[in-house]
Amino acid sequence: MKALSLLSLFITTLSAARAVTIKNLNEDDFFPFIDSNPNVFVKYCAPWYSKCGEVQSEFEKAAEELKDSKIIFAQVDCTLEQEICINNGVNKYPKFELHREGDILEFRYKEDTAENFKTFINSFTSPSLTEVDEETLETIKKENDKVILAFIKSKDSDEYQSLYRVSQKLRDEYKFVFSTDEKLAKKNNVELNNTIFVKKFNTEKNDVLVEPITDDILTTFINTAKLPLMDNLSSANYNNYLDLEIPLFYFFTEKQEDIDTIGKNIEEIARKYRLKMNFIYVDTEKYGESVENFGIEKKWPAILIQDPKSKLKYSYDSTDGFDKEFIQKFINDYFDGKIKSFYHSENLEPRKPNDYLIRMNAYTFEEVALDITKDVFVLFYAEYCKPCRESLPILREIAAEAEPKDKITIAYIDATLNDIPGKSPFNKIDGFPTMVLFRANRKNEPVLYPTNDYYKSDYIDFISQYSLNDITFEKKEEEEEESNGEEDNEESKEEEKKEEKKEEKKEEKKEEKKDEL
Ligand SMILES: *[C@@H]1O[C@H](CO)[C@@H](O)[C@H](O)[C@H]1NC(C)=O
Ligand SMILES: *[C@@H]1O[C@H](CO)[C@@H](O)[C@H](O)[C@H]1NC(C)=O
Repeated sequence: MKALSLLSLFITTLSAARAVTIKNLNEDDFFPFIDSNPNVFVKYCAPWYSKCGEVQSEFEKAAEELKDSKIIFAQVDCTLEQEICINNGVNKYPKFELHREGDILEFRYKEDTAENFKTFINSFTSPSLTEVDEETLETIKKENDKVILAFIKSKDSDEYQSLYRVSQKLRDEYKFVFSTDEKLAKKNNVELNNTIFVKKFNTEKNDVLVEPITDDILTTFINTAKLPLMDNLSSANYNNYLDLEIPLFYFFTEKQEDIDTIGKNIEEIARKYRLKMNFIYVDTEKYGESVENFGIEKKWPAILIQDPKSKLKYSYDSTDGFDKEFIQKFINDYFDGKIKSFYHSENLEPRKPNDYLIRMNAYTFEEVALDITKDVFVLFYAEYCKPCRESLPILREIAAEAEPKDKITIAYIDATLNDIPGKSPFNKIDGFPTMVLFRANRKNEPVLYPTNDYYKSDYIDFISQYSLNDITFEKKEEEEEESNGEEDNEESKEEEKKEEKKEEKKEEKKEEKKDEL
């Protein structure tokens, strides 16, 4: 060890003499150094490897040319500092990384030239937010695909601070610029306090945010304005649409002809409601059976609006056809609160006496699951899911044993027959079974059941551990007697069964996730 550190000292001195601008990092100072400097460009190499020698002069040249910027050049000798290189996933020599305020960005240009190093570094370390005048704005619009152009009153405003924070977060996806020039705002057909999302290849009008900027407002604006005018529904984008806080308009069809006629009319309307309502096509042929989960009659084309907060639905009456005016009136009536809302919901049979397991539907879900006084364990159920079916009798037993009854509820809801009201995480079910403990007094922080083990003891452990009320499980007497004396045997049998079933279940769960919309 001693010889090693002497050696590294020797090498440090040597390279320091050759190029003052490059910092050698070792195990002791690597992380402190990266943490205390916002922009560090690191080369990982092994001196014996010929390519490392070859790029050294280019690396030093870039360091020399950027020595007045805020970028620090550093290098790690992987023959001496194996730990650092392993921990940083160095899988080839040389490897270059830019450590930028907690982000790690890998250099992947074809050639390791000083020019490429500089281009790479400049593209990622240029300020996340810059001020523009008329001329620089034109250049930026030409050079960037997606520009967020904000007009604000002054740099000493809260708006500026919010804009800056959001630009720090989204800097690699969008170019953020601002101006305080009222005339420039007028030239862009907006006013101060307006923000424009400029898309380079946009053939339509650009989206404009008219409200003064806050972190949330700006982020929502960007997330909404980046969406196409009328997208196709897919499993990849569905949850994103449900997360956005604006209503969602569905147009269901299986015919191209409908898209070319009614669809085009709807797109025209959609343009007017940009940022106020999202519009999507649902290909009813592609989604087949799962279209039934929307709870509307399978008669296409069809139109539905869904409120993102409550998840309530509003259905279009198609008896008069799909003329543009009627669709427009439907949307107006929706915003005026004149359309009757509904949930997709099943009818429930009365519960049997002594059955403590509660079956919920869309209309009873909130009353049961979100009862603030109780810990409520909920199984989101689907008939086709085997672990769901197998869990029902177990949960029924647990429901009978759980005490005190006014502090704990065990419940389930068939999520294919019922909408799940409310905001996520209540309605983000990706695959069955999903189980959640909605805790007493902390309904906004539900705990997800974390494993694929569906045994009684697993459920009891979980509920006992996370419930906020004091919950106990009182075993019925006859059951206790039954298991007496044979406990060991029973337990080991159960363990065996568990192992066997685990693999099976994993497979099943995967399959089910695929089916999910
Ligand atoms: C911009 O917004 C700020 C904060 O809401 C407000 O004080 C100011 O008057 C607005 N300026 C213009 C030109 O609308
Ligand atoms: C939606 O799908 C249709 C047909 O597959 C396609 O022509 C159209 O470009 C898609 N729209 C978007 C926004 O991707």
